[in-house]
Amino acid sequence: MTQIDPSMHVAHDKPVYDQRWSKSRGTKDSRILCFRWPKTQVEFFYLQYNRLIRRSIESYAPKRRPLRLLEVGCGRGTAALFQTVELGVEAYLTDFSFDALKIARDNFSEFEAPCRIVQGDAYQLPLPDRSMDVVISLGVLEHFPDPAQPMAEMCRVLVPDGLMISMNVPERPDNIQRVAVRLNRHLSAIQRASGWGEAKPWLDATRSKTGDVFRTYDGAAHFAEATRRAGFHIERIEQVNPFPTIDPLPRAIEWLVVRGYEAFMALRSRFQPRNNPYGASERNARCHFVIARKPPT
Ligand SMILES: C[S@@+](CC[C@H](N)C(=O)[O-])C[C@H]1O[C@@H](n2cnc3c(N)ncnc32)[C@H](O)[C@@H]1O
Repeated sequence: MTQIDPSMHVAHDKPVYDQRWSKSRGTKDSRILCFRWPKTQVEFFYLQYNRLIRRSIESYAPKRRPLRLLEVGCGRGTAALFQTVELGVEAYLTDFSFDALKIARDNFSEFEAPCRIVQGDAYQLPLPDRSMDVVISLGVLEHFPDPAQPMAEMCRVLVPDGLMISMNVPERPDNIQRVAVRLNRHLSAIQRASGWGEAKPWLDATRSKTGDVFRTYDGAAHFAEATRRAGFHIERIEQVNPFPTIDPLPRAIEWLVVRGYEAFMALRSRFQPRNNPYGASERNARCHFVIARKPPT
């Protein structure tokens, strides 16, 4: 595996993220948190991710309460906020983009939820060794040419036996999003011509990419190998999200799409009760979770 020079990588990606987050502050994009009855696709997707994280934390039973939870590359901070509200964790947030942290702070303030925010680089987390019980990251590690580098930092700041939950979204043009690419191009063109809805200048025409940052094409096996190399024991890997994002859509139609996704999950729960209704085959999955533990000693 090639060792990457972190300073070169950060110097390239940070301005892209700063611009992306400065454009989204105050828009609907900065408010994707939902506890039930999602109205938009992004609320629905994140609700499922947050529930999966909550279940994983609940089944991890350390003696210490409240749990100290760090979200790395937190962006809007909503995954940590969900667990703060639902499980009463002590949230720590870090991201190298100050603009992202401003959005995260707004989101926590709205819920009057406490959190500690530290601007910092995932290559060198600004936290002491063994200071966290749980470390999570969503949509972050696929942006590192060698994810073992930030994962080693995640391992360092965890207590022995601590829990790491990482949701990764590799670039997979052949996942289920493939069925919506052409439709999304048409919808974007219609939106541009007619001017309805909210423009999302941080997205490309396929409505799935943020901007010109590195994103790996490698799948779960690559992340599993990096997880072990960073010093973790893997508990499980889950391929999730069998639904494409159809975007842009008028709000009423998007609401119906979300109800359709919920109905699909309800049917799966009814007829395949032993399977995760949000699970997907590796080919179709939009992303995967790696759930791992730092060794006890
Ligand atoms: C695709 S966004 C995901 C944001 C958030 N986790 C979410 O799910 O909405 C990736 C995030 O990682 C942050 N990030 C990328 N590279 C980083 C680095 N080297 N150190 C710290 N944060 C980084 C970006 O600023 C951005 O907020």
